[in-house]
This record gives sequence, structure tokens and C-alpha cells, in this order.
Amino acid sequence: MTPRLQHASGADIDAVASLAARTFPLACPPELDAPAIEAFIAENLTPEALRAHLDTPGHELLVASGTGGEAVGYVLLVAGTEMDPDCAAQIVHHPTIGISKFYVDPAHHGAGLAAVMLDDVSRRSRAGGARSVWLATNLANTRARRFYGKHGFLERGQRTFDVGGVLNTDVVYELPL
Ligand SMILES: CC(C)(COP(=O)(O)OP(=O)(O)OC[C@H]1O[C@@H](n2cnc3c(N)ncnc32)[C@H](O)[C@@H]1OP(=O)(O)O)[C@@H](O)C(=O)NCCC(=O)NCCS
Repeated sequence: MTPRLQHASGADIDAVASLAARTFPLACPPELDAPAIEAFIAENLTPEALRAHLDTPGHELLVASGTGGEAVGYVLLVAGTEMDPDCAAQIVHHPTIGISKFYVDPAHHGAGLAAVMLDDVSRRSRAGGARSVWLATNLANTRARRFYGKHGFLERGQRTFDVGGVLNTDVVYELPL
């Protein structure tokens, strides 16, 4: 397995979109209905939607590949608080970088890949001059919340997040670098 994340290219987009569509439901609360989840995927996680990040200044789409070259994890970084300006007041350390997406194929959960990916994100962000990274994850996403807490993220507050027209409560986290 590639130990580090690499910048996604156009050739990676279909595989990343497939991984994104498979893993997004895992981050959703159990009561969120399928149509809302499908609407979010159709709007944000198609190959076209993901490809747009390749050309957007301040956006970095990163992919971790398995031994056969398949996408096993992906990350979308968005500089500053652009991914949700309403959260800006909760972030303590600036400059910061938002982790808009952080997803690992379920076959690789609990295997250390997520920690390798997070270390890489921290290293890249620090090298780029950031003093923190931040993200938001659903209140009910206990696995992710445990992972982030274990790796030093601090809870800063909450935000409301629209998934296919349904409003959800997320916890906002910041990791000082
Ligand atoms: C969040 C994610 C990246 C973490 O990677 P991971 O490989 O699962 O992480 P780890 O196994 O190192 O850590 C998860 C922790 O949660 C624990 N855990 C597992 N299932 C759990 C559950 N149902 N409830 C609570 N904790 C759980 C694990 O035991 C582990 O804690 P421990 O190390 O103290 O034992 C990965 O689970 C994932 O991609 N999830 C789906 C997508 C997602 O939610 N992404 C985040 C969106 S912001």
C-alpha cells in the first residue's frame, strides 16, 4: 500500500468517486433516509463534482492507493474556512486548513491507514504554513469522533450541515499543529 497520500489526477477520479459514494453513507446518522444521502452523493460526489476540485485554487484532492492501484482512502483539503464560513469563529489557530472529506474504504478500517493519512495531512499542512487543521463530523459518527479525539483534535462547537435537504448536527474539531 502507498504509505502516503498523493495528489489525485484526472485518471483517479472515477475510482475516487466510487470510493466516495460507497463511504459517504458510513458517516451519516442511522436515521438519515436513503434519498437524502443519494441526493448529496449526486450533487457532490460524482466524478464531475470531484474533478472540479482538481482545478480549484486552495483545494487539494488526495488519494491513498492499495497494492493493485485501487483507491483505498481519499481526502479533500480546502484552505482556510471556505468550506463552511459559518465555522470561522470557532477556529482558534490561523492560518488553518479545512479537511472537507476524510474517508477510508471499510476493508481498511482499524488497520492504521487512517492514521497514516492524517499524519500526511498534518505534515503537508504544517509545511504549507498552517497552524491547524479543522473538520466537522456528524454528532452520531462515534467511530470518526473517537478517531479524531485519539489523534489530538479538540472539540470547538457544532454546526448544521445539509445532506440532501435534511439538516444534521455536526461537531466541529480543530487539531493545532
Ligand atoms: C473515520 C475513519 C477514517 C477512522 O479510521 P479507522 O481506521 O476506522 O480508525 P481507527 O480504527 O484507528 O479508530 C477508530 C476508533 O473507533 C473505535 N470504534 C470502532 N467502531 C466504533 C463504533 N461503532 N463506535 C465507537 N467507536 C468505534 C475503534 O475501536 C477505534 O478506537 P480505539 O483505537 O481506541 O480502539 C474511518 O472509520 C472511516 O473512513 N469511516 C467512514 C467515513 C467517515 O466517517 N469519515 C469521517 C467523515 S468526517
